[in-house]
Amino acid sequence: MSDFKSEIPGRIAAMQQNTALTGAAKEFLRASAGAEYSYNYHWLGRPIIQYPQDIVAMQELIWEIKPDLIVETGIAHGGSLIFSASVLAMLDMCEAIEKGETLDPAQSRRKVIGVDIDIRAHNRAAMDAHPMRSRIEMIEGSSIAEDTIAQVKAAAQGYETVLVCLDSMHTHDHVLAELEAYAPLASKGSYCVVFDTLIEDMAEDEYPNRPWGKGDNPKTAVWEYLTSHPEFEIDKSIPDKLMITVAHDGFLKRVS
Ligand SMILES: C[S@@+](CC[C@H](N)C(=O)[O-])C[C@H]1O[C@@H](n2cnc3c(N)ncnc32)[C@H](O)[C@@H]1O
Repeated sequence: MSDFKSEIPGRIAAMQQNTALTGAAKEFLRASAGAEYSYNYHWLGRPIIQYPQDIVAMQELIWEIKPDLIVETGIAHGGSLIFSASVLAMLDMCEAIEKGETLDPAQSRRKVIGVDIDIRAHNRAAMDAHPMRSRIEMIEGSSIAEDTIAQVKAAAQGYETVLVCLDSMHTHDHVLAELEAYAPLASKGSYCVVFDTLIEDMAEDEYPNRPWGKGDNPKTAVWEYLTSHPEFEIDKSIPDKLMITVAHDGFLKRVS
């Protein structure tokens, strides 16, 4: 097993030198964004608007960090909240097995906080009926409104190992404000993951009906945020491995 793990960095470095592979990955990202590829998936029955590669990467991060809290902006149909809650549930189950204890879900502190400006009634009803619901707290409001930020911070009180994911409105100013508000919740060694940085790498006219685009998107917000926040560093090893990801420069590791 240890050999298997130690061989990965060398393989990733070789992949980065493989221009046929890097070119194909870029081409796939461009073509698949236009085809709305990420709108085709479900996690435990709820639509999750993510690329499968990013979902696997998040599972690896959650296993490595073992957070007791995950804060997410952008709920949509709730799939990413259900995903996070289900992996937290598996962490609890694994810990109980390791300790030889019986799992009591009511005793778990691990939870997910989700924020969205518009939690549609049908999505809320489906979430309310989902077996993972007890681990999820949903807050309705703009993620950058003072009141919402205060609610999230209050709900996050007392949690020590925290992972943050930003996936709501993808304009530069909005994501920068979200970074200022929520990235500090990420604990040292954990991450603030900023999705949809790929907008910067798309064609100028890729998003004619959206308020974001080239020069005004999550990646430009990350770059600006990092100029005054040395406590975070871009972890390139994750996108270098995935190649197909919407979060190049978006995996921000808290290093201090
Ligand atoms: C890309 S979707 C989220 C996808 C979800 N994370 C998933 O993986 O399935 C973006 C969401 O951001 C929400 N949103 C847009 N503007 C927002 C704002 N100002 N504050 C909070 N959420 C917002 C939208 O309502 C939408 O549900």
